[in-house]
Amino acid sequence: MADATDRDDRTPHILVVPYPAQGHISPMLQFSKRLRKRGVKISLVTTKFIARTSHSIPSSFPVLTISDGHDDGGIDSAESIQIYLDSLRRFGSESLRELLQQLSSSASPADCVIYDGFNAWAQDVANEFKVIKAVFFTQSCAVADIYYHVYKGLIKLPLPDTEIEIPGLPPMKPPEFPSFVYQLGSYPAYYDVIVNQYANVHKADLIFWNTFYELEREVLECLKRIWPAIRPVGPSIPSGFLDGRIENDREYGLSFFNAEGDVSLKWLDDRRKGSVVFVSFGSLGEVPVEQMEETADCLKNSKWAFLWVVRTSEAAKLPTGFVAETAEKGLVVSWCRQLEVLAHEAIGCFVTHCGWNSTLEAVSLGVPMVAVPGWTDQNTNAKFISDVWKVGLKASAHKDGLVKRGALLQCIEEVMGGDRGDEIRKNAAVWKALARKAFEDGGSFDEVVDEFLAKFVSRF
Ligand code: UDX
Repeated sequence: MADATDRDDRTPHILVVPYPAQGHISPMLQFSKRLRKRGVKISLVTTKFIARTSHSIPSSFPVLTISDGHDDGGIDSAESIQIYLDSLRRFGSESLRELLQQLSSSASPADCVIYDGFNAWAQDVANEFKVIKAVFFTQSCAVADIYYHVYKGLIKLPLPDTEIEIPGLPPMKPPEFPSFVYQLGSYPAYYDVIVNQYANVHKADLIFWNTFYELEREVLECLKRIWPAIRPVGPSIPSGFLDGRIENDREYGLSFFNAEGDVSLKWLDDRRKGSVVFVSFGSLGEVPVEQMEETADCLKNSKWAFLWVVRTSEAAKLPTGFVAETAEKGLVVSWCRQLEVLAHEAIGCFVTHCGWNSTLEAVSLGVPMVAVPGWTDQNTNAKFISDVWKVGLKASAHKDGLVKRGALLQCIEEVMGGDRGDEIRKNAAVWKALARKAFEDGGSFDEVVDEFLAKFVSRF
């Protein structure tokens, strides 16, 4: 056990505890890497299953583990989402407590826990150890504003069939709300976790958000009146990508899947600037087979080349013969290094499911989008992409819920060429510059980190 002198000399130790999903771990890891450059010690705390099965966690990054009660198979081995979330709360709390206990008698006790908003239970554990507690939100402020109003009972549910006004947001139609609110009862377990994450936010010492001020200024100002400790720290992507010096950030993240070497990037190198449609529906969602067919047919008939990420678990949904028939102009991969793909000059537009990370990545790298949202927060992100930031078009869904090949093709054509495409590209360039500005020396990110690190001074 370390003596008091050792402890006086040591650097602050921060534990970062994301919800165990790709879209949550990645942004919290990027944020951690930026913090670490300021001289603190950071450990990523993830589940045993994820630590064992993930690809490319930066080798230099310390990883500590907790249990979600499903150490052998993670969420896919749970009987239901509800059972998994209950188990994560119970086993996660117990094992995080044990971890903090062990560290408290080591040379490097924890001084702070930065926990994911989805892991609201971690705040209670942090309280027992009197460490600094900061919450990190991995979705947009806009969706948080909606969920907060739901949590407080300030929005009538089920949603009325009219435009709804919420402070900080543009008037929105019900289908533009997060699916868990619009389609009430669709995923009750996620709904409960998400809505109830706002119950103890006000007790956190700081509230970090993966967004940047200019992008969500109006809603941030509204939320700041509710939670004065809110601080935007995004976009959580490596600096090299914002500065155009990717080589500095080759070892950038954690991935649940293997990116098949650099096959996508090599393939893109042979394409003309702005000539490729990049298509990806994220790390998690299951795309209906009919939507895969509509997308496949659209890409086959479009005049543009395409790069399409189809996860191995989704590959059987591709129409028979599609890959061979389109081999001359298209490449289908099971996973890629998305940031590098988005930063490649061959990419002309991104057909996206509008997960918050993909949205922020495309906005920050100035890539025009065609929005094909599926579930959770994606409808709201799509609304902002098309109507607020005007960096893309939302493909309209047919009344059966599918985006048909014709509608998708029309959006791709408009974004890749044409007057609207020009306008969208101009807007995208403006947002790209603003994203970069957040990380200028002495800019808003530095200010937040200075304030955060000052909280440690009184502990030493
Ligand atoms: C989930 C939800 O679907 C989303 O709505 C929510 O905002 C976050 O959690 P996910 O499906 O993981 O998101 O999508 P997204 O948030 O966009 O994150 C996907 C991440 O995987 C991105 O960082 C993206 O760069 C990365 N990715 C994706 C790759 O690195 N390679 C790929 O081939 C595809």
